[in-house]
Formats: sequence, C-alpha cells, structure tokens
Amino acid sequence: MTSPQIDTIGVLTSGGDCPGLNAVIRGVVRKAEREFGWRTLGFHDGYRGLVEDSSEDLTVEGCRGILPRGGTIIGTSRFTPFMFDDGLARARETMETNGVDALVVVGGEGSLSCAHELAEAGIPIVGVPKTIDNDIGLTERTFGFDTAVQIATDAIDRLHTTAESHNRVMVVEVMGRHVGHIATWAGMAGGATMTLIPEEPFDIAEVCEALQRRHARGKFASIVVVAEGAIPAPGTLDVPEPAVDQYGHKRLGGICNVVAAEIEHRTGFETRVTVLGHVQRGGTPTSFDRALSSWYGVEAANAVADGEFDSMVAFQGGTMVRVPLGEAIGELKYASPELRAAARSFFA
Ligand code: F6P
Repeated sequence: MTSPQIDTIGVLTSGGDCPGLNAVIRGVVRKAEREFGWRTLGFHDGYRGLVEDSSEDLTVEGCRGILPRGGTIIGTSRFTPFMFDDGLARARETMETNGVDALVVVGGEGSLSCAHELAEAGIPIVGVPKTIDNDIGLTERTFGFDTAVQIATDAIDRLHTTAESHNRVMVVEVMGRHVGHIATWAGMAGGATMTLIPEEPFDIAEVCEALQRRHARGKFASIVVVAEGAIPAPGTLDVPEPAVDQYGHKRLGGICNVVAAEIEHRTGFETRVTVLGHVQRGGTPTSFDRALSSWYGVEAANAVADGEFDSMVAFQGGTMVRVPLGEAIGELKYASPELRAAARSFFA
C-alpha cells in the first residue's frame, strides 16, 4: 500500500439521514485540514452533487458547532450515478474539474454498494457505514443506531404509563427495514411485552394467545413493539404490499395498524397504535453516536491517507478497522439468534 498524493478530498452523505452525519463530516475535515493539509469539498445531496458538480468548501472553522446537530449540513438523497447512462462519466468529470483525488462516502447499504461499483470503476473511495438500522455487515455498530434505540426506548417508557392507566394494548412501530435491531434493543430496554421482527415471522394467533395469557394473570396493559419490516408467517395475516419511492426504494411502515386491528378483533382488548417514524432519525445524536461518528470520520481520513481504497471503516472489538467494501455490503447483518433469545426471555 503506497500513500497517494492528495491535495483535495470530497465527502458526501447519501441515503436516509442519520444522527451523527455531521460529526463524521467534522472528523474528516479536522484530520484533512489539520493533519494532512488537504482541502475538503462537501458534495451536495449525496451523489447528486457529484454528478451535477455541486459542492462547497468544508473547513474546520465552518464545521464549528455541527457536532451535536442532527441531519447533514451538506444534504443527502437516494440519487445514484448509475441512474443515468453518463452518470459515471459525469462523476469523473466533476472530480477532475475540482481536482478531487479521493472520496469519502458516508452511506447505508445501497449507497455503499454504489460506492463499491464506483471504486471498481477506478474512483478512489473509502466508505463509512451509516444507518439507524445497524444492518451493515462487518461492523458491530453503525452510527445513528444508538440514538434511534434511545428515542424508541423513551417512547416505550412513556407508553407504559398511558397503557396502564387505560388497560390498553399499545402497538408501537419502529424503523429498521429488513432487520430487527432497533425493535429488539428498544423492546428489551423498554420492557416491551413482545417484539415482532423480520428475522422471526410471527403468527398473530400466537401473539394474541400470549397477550390473553398475560392479561389473565392480572396484567391489563401490554406493549407490543413491531419492526416496520416484520413479516407474518405464511398464510396467517394479509399485509398490504408497500409502495416504492422515486428511487425504487420500498416505503415500509404501517404494519402495526394491521397487527393492532387484529389484536383488538381477536382479544377484545382495547388497542392503540404509535408509529415512531422519522422521529427516530431526527435531532441530536447520543454521546455514544457523537464519539463513534467522530472516530469513523477520523479513521476514514486515515484510510484515504494510506491509500486504502474500496474499503470501509468498521467498528470491531471496540476499535476501528478497515474492511473490503465489497465484503461489507455482501450480506445484511441480522439480529443474532443469541440476542433474540435473550429478548424472548422477557416476552409476555
Ligand atoms: O434506512 C434507514 C431508514 O430510516 C429505514 O429504517 C426506513 O425504512 C427508511 O430509512 C425510511 O426512508 P425514507 O426517509 O425515505 O422514508
């Protein structure tokens, strides 16, 4: 590995926003400017800025105050260069025009897959794993996850008291797409009655029976946490197919309405629904996410300095490592059987 000659790097944030994005940007800029003497350009709205040549200079001075801010100061989108026949050529042209020697791409699974394709096409890229879903392989934690779990836990705590006052079942839906990390951690942290996740297709009849057994024991309130991607066991419950957005991305959300209606219908228990939605992605990151994101930013700049491209910085065994980008995006990281078994110990 030889260190490349770098004068300018680009950074972009792509996909759904996530608490900690600004802390990553600040970490990259800090190392770039103070240690390596590079200029940093922030491309606007994810890959759109790269294809349409829209960017701004990022400096240590300009990044003051952004550490605790949610969202991303340079914008994000699900746009990719591969949506256009000439997208790759335009991305290259933008890099040449602006003298950008390497890119740091902060994104989730889709955005990092795109980064890997760009890297294979010869663009020097380092990836940073971003998503509240915590579903990226080869890293124990994506930043934003801790914040989302904290927000969901706070909500579950609040739902307990109103559920108990009214003897109700509260069905609370959390994000996470095709994995149940947020649901499982927040469910366990919040003392949920049970948690339905994509990793374990659920049978609504068993859910209702468990609630009935619990209420027969004199507990008249329950909290059911449902991951937005939860899947009923085949033939047990009809759930409408989700719509897709302009990028072909499935818009999940709403399964809790079907689950709640069915619980009320089958058990007769009064049931209410809470969909936490984008609240889980908004606002200030937790202290853990601020530190983790900052560390990711620093390590991404170090990887660029070392010329370790087509790689992703990853958090493993309590420290930062670099892994091949192609391997990290190879497989979604699901909630482990051990974690799920521990969570199940507290059900009903
Ligand atoms: O991947 C992060 C995430 O928040 C998912 O948990 C959720 O399904 C999706 O993004 C929502 O995306 P959008 O902001 O496009 O509605």
